[in-house]
Amino acid sequence: MKALAALAPASAAEWTQSAVAQVKLHGVEAYFALIDQADVDFDANAPEHAESVLVRVAAFSCNYREQARILRTAQLQDRKGYVTLGSEFAGTVVKVGPAVQTLQVGDAVCGNGTVEPGVGSHPGLTTQKASAGLQILHQRKLCRLPPAMPLPVAAAFSVGVQTAYSMVGRLQAPHNAHVAVTAASSNTALIVLKALLARGHEPRCLHALTTSAGIVPHLQALGIEQVCLMPRDVGYDAALQRYLADRALPAFDAVIDPFLDIYLPKLLPYTRRFGRYIYCGVAEQYGKIQADSFAYLGLDIAEVFGQILRKSITLIGNNLGTTADLLAGTQDYLQGRLAIDIDSVVTDGDLQRFVERSYVSPDRIGKVVYAYASV
Ligand SMILES: NC(=O)c1ccc[n+]([C@@H]2O[C@H](COP(=O)([O-])OP(=O)(O)OC[C@H]3O[C@@H](n4cnc5c(N)ncnc54)[C@H](OP(=O)(O)O)[C@@H]3O)[C@@H](O)[C@H]2O)c1
Repeated sequence: MKALAALAPASAAEWTQSAVAQVKLHGVEAYFALIDQADVDFDANAPEHAESVLVRVAAFSCNYREQARILRTAQLQDRKGYVTLGSEFAGTVVKVGPAVQTLQVGDAVCGNGTVEPGVGSHPGLTTQKASAGLQILHQRKLCRLPPAMPLPVAAAFSVGVQTAYSMVGRLQAPHNAHVAVTAASSNTALIVLKALLARGHEPRCLHALTTSAGIVPHLQALGIEQVCLMPRDVGYDAALQRYLADRALPAFDAVIDPFLDIYLPKLLPYTRRFGRYIYCGVAEQYGKIQADSFAYLGLDIAEVFGQILRKSITLIGNNLGTTADLLAGTQDYLQGRLAIDIDSVVTDGDLQRFVERSYVSPDRIGKVVYAYASV
């Protein structure tokens, strides 16, 4: 079976199995290849595999947080090695264990990263090796796809949708609450914005904050009326003040943020007393390899703690979501209320394009999907 791997430099230098793709990621040369691995299978009579499902992966995509593993591998000095990549996948069931009740051979599936604890399965992401062509997975970590969902969409659906619907639900913001959504061009924020609209949030009360002018037409096409374009320097503060003053808005009622380390120190002064702030990630997941000055602007850490306390702000961490969150997003997708942005589908072979668009193309909108066969 095939799998996408990030290679250590020493392995890339000697690689002969397939073409090596190379990109500079945060100043570090990173190497990628499609590797051949032995097929996996399981013994359906073994008790530990009673609830196992064998899935043949047709398409996969990678996530922001995989950059940490890619960069760690890219910096292995004088040591060979690789890590298998992929956070999301879509594929077909080829074998089921005897206690599997929810799935049958032939079903199309994607991952279900539910964080609800379950016997025999782990909470969280279904797999960190989603590119591996065959996967043995627990039935609880899979979701059967509706026939109307194409596999490339399914390979870019579950993580963003489950996370976004969880955050929107847990935020408990009334439809007329002024909600700021940060890093609006990120895949996560785009789904959050669409989920809020799909769930009936008033468009005039949605505020998309972005540092990318190029995303503004796309946001407007989605029905996002209010966009705050923030410069990536100290000017962000004046831009926020002007944005709120122009709307006679004293502060945001709530914030949904994929990058807490960047935005919490910047937005606390503009979040109201008793406001709610939910986040699902941080930007610095890979060890400050290349310092980003914009990330460090804002209140210092003591003042961050002080403002959260003095303003009685509810700060909520969020990891992925529940099966109900994933199903709610799937329903919205099926009923035409939630479109999924797919930047591109890369077909078998063009690995260079896949890694460039996934990780270093500033004009990417949504996810980049790699398809093994024609899907
Ligand atoms: N815990 C979970 O369950 C979960 C699930 C999914 C994602 N996440 C997290 O959500 C975050 C976003 O992931 P994603 O895949 O949606 O990201 P993505 O699509 O790669 O986001 C790219 C965008 O993020 C913003 N950004 C990134 N680095 C920045 C920096 N240094 N300074 C300013 N803006 C920066 C920019 O937005 P603008 O151009 O709009 O400013 C950029 O265009 C990550 O922290 C990820 O780990 C968590």
